Amino acid sequence: MTDRLKVELTGVPETLLWNLYHRAAEARRPDAVLDDPKALELVEAIDFPFERFGEPKMAQWHALRVLCFDRAVRRFMTAYPGGTVVALGEGLETQFWRVDDGRVRWLTVELPETVAVRRRLLPDDPPRRRTLAGSALDHSWMDEVDAGEGVLISTQGLLMYLQPDEVRSLIAACAERFPGGALIFDSVPHFLAERSRRGDLAPEGAYRAPAWHWSLDPGEHRKILEYSPRIAGVRDLRYPRGRGLLTLAPLAGHMPLVRKLRMPIVEVSFAA
Ligand SMILES: C[S@@+](CC[C@H](N)C(=O)[O-])C[C@H]1O[C@@H](n2cnc3c(N)ncnc32)[C@H](O)[C@@H]1O
Repeated sequence: MTDRLKVELTGVPETLLWNLYHRAAEARRPDAVLDDPKALELVEAIDFPFERFGEPKMAQWHALRVLCFDRAVRRFMTAYPGGTVVALGEGLETQFWRVDDGRVRWLTVELPETVAVRRRLLPDDPPRRRTLAGSALDHSWMDEVDAGEGVLISTQGLLMYLQPDEVRSLIAACAERFPGGALIFDSVPHFLAERSRRGDLAPEGAYRAPAWHWSLDPGEHRKILEYSPRIAGVRDLRYPRGRGLLTLAPLAGHMPLVRKLRMPIVEVSFAA
């Protein structure tokens, strides 16, 4: 017990623990949709009152979102062997350990307080896996990317916390800087973002994540094309099939009532 790492994060960095807790909760199930032993290890290694997040009722949904990102990364690794994945705001994601093909290069860009935790729990293993402490909004991380074998930028669970002009200039700068590359993001619909800003997304007394500022309704992903003439395409990715009601997850974009609740995951491709 005493050698567990005490983690004290607040604000947006604390949300990474929500994600980790939900991944681990799903991975612990015998019928899990996500295999993530490293997430289980991390939850054991961390001294944090995870019960603060309540019952992990959204664990399967969260795991499907994660799997959708994993699939995109695997497609990239197949198309660009030895390419670089840049994970902006990676938190304590354990994706590298789920998808590593022995060749991919991985660069994590995270805020210094999160990097301090990450370095204790998931030390770098250069040259294939490296971490930079700094904001994704300070575009100097782009100088550190070896783009020779292809680049995929992943921003899982990050962009909704940024301001709309920050998101726009980040995506546009990536499109300028990484011709032929791609970026994946997830977003939240406008009505959920408004509720989060009003502070009524979760009941009184329950954990409430910081407000979401950038949002995108279903079907609005094509607006991203306006961010830069260097953006060649956008694709709304299908969620993988889950169990129970979530066997219907891949069809959620076509189901009228469910569609408006859906949190889109979008792949943006940059002109070569
Ligand atoms: C919801 S968590 C997502 C963590 C991880 N990507 C996942 O899906 O489990 C948001 C993460 O964004 C990081 N973050 C917030 N603002 C950032 C910024 N400006 N630059 C880099 N990382 C940032 C936080 O430290 C936190 O780890």
